[in-house]
Amino acid sequence: MDLMTALRQRRSIRRYQERPIPEETLKTLLDAAKTAPSAGNLRSRKFLVVTNPQIMKALGLAAYSQPQFSKAAALVVICADVPRSSARYGDRGSLFAIQDADAACMCLLLAAHALGLGACWNGAFDDALVRDLLSLEKGVLPVAIISLGWPDQQPADPGGSQEEAVSWIT
Ligand SMILES: Cc1cc2nc3c(=O)[nH]c(=O)nc-3n(C[C@H](O)[C@H](O)[C@H](O)COP(=O)(O)O)c2cc1C
Repeated sequence: MDLMTALRQRRSIRRYQERPIPEETLKTLLDAAKTAPSAGNLRSRKFLVVTNPQIMKALGLAAYSQPQFSKAAALVVICADVPRSSARYGDRGSLFAIQDADAACMCLLLAAHALGLGACWNGAFDDALVRDLLSLEKGVLPVAIISLGWPDQQPADPGGSQEEAVSWIT
């Protein structure tokens, strides 16, 4: 699949078949996520791949029981490693670490789509609960929980891209 096609076709998938994702496929997704750029190549981010049913259930509750959590085959929690980035960039470090994590999220979503998987970026969750469940170190900020599974829906383009603010300063 060429990249422009993947960009145009990707959708947030929130309904999944009850079918596991092979570990090798998950590893491929993580490899894709790690291709993302990062400030100063510091890679100020962390990935937690969760397939443990109890932890997945608890993360679903922490994400306000959003339905896409109930049948996801795996969750990938992408965190910003703020201390790592701040050690070099000071106050700018927290922004850079979040951007490092965001860039990785997008690469993972596109790779999932290219492999025929469905994925949804979930940012609505109780931060403290997620940090606690995953025993995240101080300063490591969970940015997104990506729910993954084999798609059981084909959502239409939700639209809106035509209205996004673009200014040309020539
Ligand atoms: C920062 C961020 C947070 C998001 N959080 C959620 C979420 O908690 N739950 C959800 O269902 N979708 C979430 N989404 C997905 C958006 O709803 C989705 O990208 C948007 O509606 C456009 O649809 P598309 O991804 O199919 O193009 C989030 C997306 C982003 C970028």
